[in-house]
Amino acid sequence: MLQLMRRSQPYLPRLTEAAGVGSWHCQARKFSVDAELRLQGKVGIVTGASSGIGFVTAKALAKEGMTVIMVSRSMQKLEAAKEEVPGSVCMACDVANGASVHAMVGQILKKFGQIDIVTNCAGVMYFTLMRNLLYDQWKQTIDTNCTGIVNVCGAVLPHMLSSKRGHIVNVSSDAARQVFPALAVYNASKAFVNIFSKGLRAECVGTGIRVTDVMPGDTATNLVMQNTDSEAAEKVGVQIGEVVGKGFDRGSVLDPEDIANAIVYAVTLPGHVGLHEILIEPRDQMFGDPTAMGVTPEGMYSPQVATGRSNDPPL
Ligand SMILES: NC(=O)c1ccc[n+]([C@@H]2O[C@H](COP(=O)([O-])OP(=O)(O)OC[C@H]3O[C@@H](n4cnc5c(N)ncnc54)[C@H](OP(=O)(O)O)[C@@H]3O)[C@@H](O)[C@H]2O)c1
Repeated sequence: MLQLMRRSQPYLPRLTEAAGVGSWHCQARKFSVDAELRLQGKVGIVTGASSGIGFVTAKALAKEGMTVIMVSRSMQKLEAAKEEVPGSVCMACDVANGASVHAMVGQILKKFGQIDIVTNCAGVMYFTLMRNLLYDQWKQTIDTNCTGIVNVCGAVLPHMLSSKRGHIVNVSSDAARQVFPALAVYNASKAFVNIFSKGLRAECVGTGIRVTDVMPGDTATNLVMQNTDSEAAEKVGVQIGEVVGKGFDRGSVLDPEDIANAIVYAVTLPGHVGLHEILIEPRDQMFGDPTAMGVTPEGMYSPQVATGRSNDPPL
């Protein structure tokens, strides 16, 4: 790698001149000087801003100079969170409710005349076993994680199309890529967000709009606080009423700041760059859930440990 970099270095000035962007080194220096205010003059929505990843992302974007519209269902939680997000505006809105989302976007456009960046963090996650029939939790998952994102993207798109720019960041999950036990509906909802984001991006080619799907792994937030299916929780080793990753070692859980930094990175890239997908997981996160995947004491994946039926005859 080092050799490759050394070999390509002499060609860098020629490449950058050809692209009409001046010296690469000068650009890099300028970037760091303005590092704190790269989003000055921008107006952006963060849904799910009252807690966890959305809250920390709202803080990080405000630090870059963006006027942040903080959105979630609870005005009380938003008002408390706003204290740490300078210059922000709070708007209570249930993203699952299309009329409420359109009203929210309409008010922002009336007040500010622009929406440059939308970060969709609002979401819920319930560990449930399908056999326990928690219909309300399945419905809330689909309504919030799927319908909610579609509602918000749909509501801002006409404005972004007419202004020929904009950036939509959808926070899905590594659960969009891999299947975890007791998360069938959540898994499916995040796969939906991943495919929806790809489809939206395809539709936005040539419009000046960027779409980024951020797929976090375990991140220390209150996401599973409201879980009630104790059988599911016990099966996967999740503690009901605890922060995600409680008791994990440092290499096995992310902080919301890690996700916020990735989002800031994506939205501050030069306009011609599309960071379409970001898979960001704790360094030591296993592929799938160790409890169900059958990890042996040596750390090796073993389907026999997972099923306990290694000697079953084939069907
Ligand atoms: N933490 C993780 O390990 C992890 C991993 C991968 C992906 N994610 C995803 O990251 C996103 C943020 O989750 P988090 O971990 O930060 O959890 P969190 O702390 O529970 O935050 C969820 C946020 O969503 C808001 N919300 C929920 N339903 C809503 C609705 N119908 N309308 C508007 N806002 C709503 C909540 O506020 P109100 O209650 O005030 O509405 C809250 O602000 C979710 O999409 C989640 O699936 C998290």
